[in-house]
Amino acid sequence: MSRIVYVNGNYVPEAEATVSVFDRGFVMADAIYEVTAVIDGKMLEFDGHMARMQRSLDELNIAYKVDYDDMLAIHREMITRNNLVTGGIYIQISRGNPGDRDFIFPEGDAISPTIVLFTQEKPDPRLDESKLTGWHIMTMEDLRWHRRDIKTVQLLWPSIAKTAAIRAGFDDTWMIENGTITEGTSNNAYIIKDNVIITRQLSHDILHGITRASLLRYAHDRQMKIEERPFTVDEVKSADEAFITSASTYVKPVVSIDGVNIGSGKVGKHALQLRQIYIEESLKAAI
Ligand code: PDD
Repeated sequence: MSRIVYVNGNYVPEAEATVSVFDRGFVMADAIYEVTAVIDGKMLEFDGHMARMQRSLDELNIAYKVDYDDMLAIHREMITRNNLVTGGIYIQISRGNPGDRDFIFPEGDAISPTIVLFTQEKPDPRLDESKLTGWHIMTMEDLRWHRRDIKTVQLLWPSIAKTAAIRAGFDDTWMIENGTITEGTSNNAYIIKDNVIITRQLSHDILHGITRASLLRYAHDRQMKIEERPFTVDEVKSADEAFITSASTYVKPVVSIDGVNIGSGKVGKHALQLRQIYIEESLKAAI
């Protein structure tokens, strides 16, 4: 079934949607994006995604003020028009089309941003819990730029790293910088050792995951211990459990790294419990 996508105020069949070849998102990766999870036709963490979107725009001086009500209406319209029950909504905002390719970009609101949305269907994450498998991870150097806290569409290295993992029989890559893990190609990375959840602290090194923020809050509320610090591949190998978080995987167990089993090499009980807690709690607040 052909999707209805959104381009600059219009809802059009995907085959009819167009963006200029001079759009800075296309020629310069001068664009930011968000992915919001949808379960039962409702969005998880919508407020968090919109707040981070505004922050990304502001960090790049893209002159666009997110109107919460407009954005909510557009996202909801996309769910309705595409009969989306479970999956995600992608939104991308680029600086726009300056009319030619040029390294210098126009100031402020001299050009209008290009806004694009589309939906993606996914299986219901609640169906697979009994047969939930963990991911096998490999590692690669982190060759991304140093403002990973801005959610830009510069995804070439993550895409190369994820593809390398799949082609080598793994599920994803965790990236390494100066001897410690930064994050996964499109997710935040965690280990659990002696009942302590360890994940890298927020900085320019990683994306400030919306799922991460909520999960750590839910874990904290349940008296689980959390340490926010960098960790090494050796620590992963000797951890009891590991997992990732993102809007597309929620909480997903990780069972091996570079061919070495983590803990029992099976889905860990904490990771599974955290996944259930996350889905349950975030669904309660879904809109
Ligand atoms: N990726 N780190 C990176 C590099 C990411 O690209 C993502 C999300 C995350 C997790 O962030 P959140 O919990 O807010 O989804 C961490 C999205 C899902 C994507 O690119 O498809």
